[in-house]
Amino acid sequence: MTDSTHIKSFAVIGNPIAHSLSPAIHQAFGKQLGVALRYTAIQSPIDGFPAVVDEFFANGGAGLNVTVPFKEIAYAMAQAHLSERASLAGAVNTLWMDHGRLHGCNTDGVGLLHDIQRLGITLQNKRILLVGAGGAAKGVVRPLLQAQCAALHIANRTPERAIELQTHIARLLPQFSAQVTAGSLKQSIGQWDVVINATSSSLGNLPPDLPDGIYAPGALAYDMMYGAQPTSFMLRAQAQGATHIADGLGMLVGQAAASFAIWHGLEPDLAPVLAALRQKLHSA
Ligand code: ATR
Repeated sequence: MTDSTHIKSFAVIGNPIAHSLSPAIHQAFGKQLGVALRYTAIQSPIDGFPAVVDEFFANGGAGLNVTVPFKEIAYAMAQAHLSERASLAGAVNTLWMDHGRLHGCNTDGVGLLHDIQRLGITLQNKRILLVGAGGAAKGVVRPLLQAQCAALHIANRTPERAIELQTHIARLLPQFSAQVTAGSLKQSIGQWDVVINATSSSLGNLPPDLPDGIYAPGALAYDMMYGAQPTSFMLRAQAQGATHIADGLGMLVGQAAASFAIWHGLEPDLAPVLAALRQKLHSA
């Protein structure tokens, strides 16, 4: 029998959390790599996140994934020991203790990049339209720029937020400021090679109100949201002539794999886990 006191304990924390796929993903990675682990889902009260985190680690917890709406508070809690990825994102989705100190990283951007690579698309010299200027968009700008895209345009329903994000990037990553522009959704005119939906619009089943004719030949339309069916953004992109459409399930598995690597020092194979989850979504 396994001695359960030696099994490390992990969890995803959010509100709501009941439908999180993270426990299934991490348990599948553990099985694949022979790592015994416990991984649960914790629903934190909206105003009680720091206390829940403190208690988790005080009880010997090894690592936490953080999801909506706590990524910014997690960032503030780990302020003294943030990875470079987390610093620019202003949000943390991975927490762990090292020598009694809370550390934070953001693996969302790496997850997105891995998934775009899996789809056979390279970002080098590409024109990217990033739709949205909230936490989800902020989490991915740095890796998109580091992938050497030719241009990154941030479009948001509230254009002031897009311009604010552009200013934030220019301050923290001045070497990329020439590539980054920002504006309203309607101002996203032109032809884009990759269009990423980082808004929460798919939750309401209404795609962001983008202009017609924005997809360049061979373009990818990527929605960070996912579901059993293509999202409204994906359907509209297809109708508008996007060559490739994808949802964010692969990004979810990719960000989990990067968290797993931080905690366990091991790189899981994403493909079988993604295939199993896709099947589970379809049969649910
Ligand atoms: P998150 O952390 O998930 O990014 P957020 O910070 O609340 O959440 O940001 C949500 C994003 O989705 C914002 O860019 C929001 O646009 P506004 O800044 O104008 O509010 C965008 N969004 C939500 N619903 C939308 C819709 N129906 N159409 C277009 N954009 C939408």
